[in-house]
Amino acid sequence: MKNKKITRKISQGVYALTTNGGGCIVDAVSQISTGNNPLIAVSVMKDNYTNELLKKNNKFALSVLDRNVDPKIITTFGTKSSRDIDKYENVETEDIEEIKVIKDSIGYMVLEKIDSIDNDTHTLFIGKLVEADIYKEEKPMTYEYYQENKDDYIKVTTEKNKTAWVCTICGYVYYGEELPEDFKCPICGVDRSLFKKADH
Ligand SMILES: Cc1cc2nc3c(=O)[nH]c(=O)nc-3n(C[C@H](O)[C@H](O)[C@H](O)COP(=O)(O)O)c2cc1C
Repeated sequence: MKNKKITRKISQGVYALTTNGGGCIVDAVSQISTGNNPLIAVSVMKDNYTNELLKKNNKFALSVLDRNVDPKIITTFGTKSSRDIDKYENVETEDIEEIKVIKDSIGYMVLEKIDSIDNDTHTLFIGKLVEADIYKEEKPMTYEYYQENKDDYIKVTTEKNKTAWVCTICGYVYYGEELPEDFKCPICGVDRSLFKKADH
């Protein structure tokens, strides 16, 4: 492949996916049909706890994040796992159709799961829109904007006197002189080319 980075030019937004028991930040979202109840697809990594939840739950929601979203929402939902913490503890939500949606957002879409497609690493969940509302008119955060400004969203501190490698996508820190050959970020799944050596 001459330059795979062209895929990063696909415009994507940044959303909080919520479902009973957890949820996570996603950018891999696409509307795939139109009409009164359009279909929306979201791709969730199999390693994420959210994937397990979506396999059994039949409803989920996507809250559309804006550029001024409280960074805490991105760090909590996008860099931590519901296996370890309750992501809803300090986040204001509203119950819509029995799903908690994020109040600090432009608005939400509640989806009824109608299908899913598995591949090696991810599952594509397809939902039918059953409820939706707009809280405020703001510019949605794009994945590109997030990438350009993520230092404001993810504060990474690394221990001094140790060689550290930081995931440029989610802020996960790996300690060690070299990253293992086939290393993948345990949090967000990207490969080692997206890690940067920390300059303390
Ligand atoms: C900006 C951003 C975009 C992300 N996009 C996705 C995505 O599209 N699909 C996905 O499965 N994980 C994505 N992630 C990673 C998950 O949000 C992250 O791994 C989360 O900690 C999983 O939590 P869980 O184990 O509770 O499901 C993204 C993270 C960030 C910060």
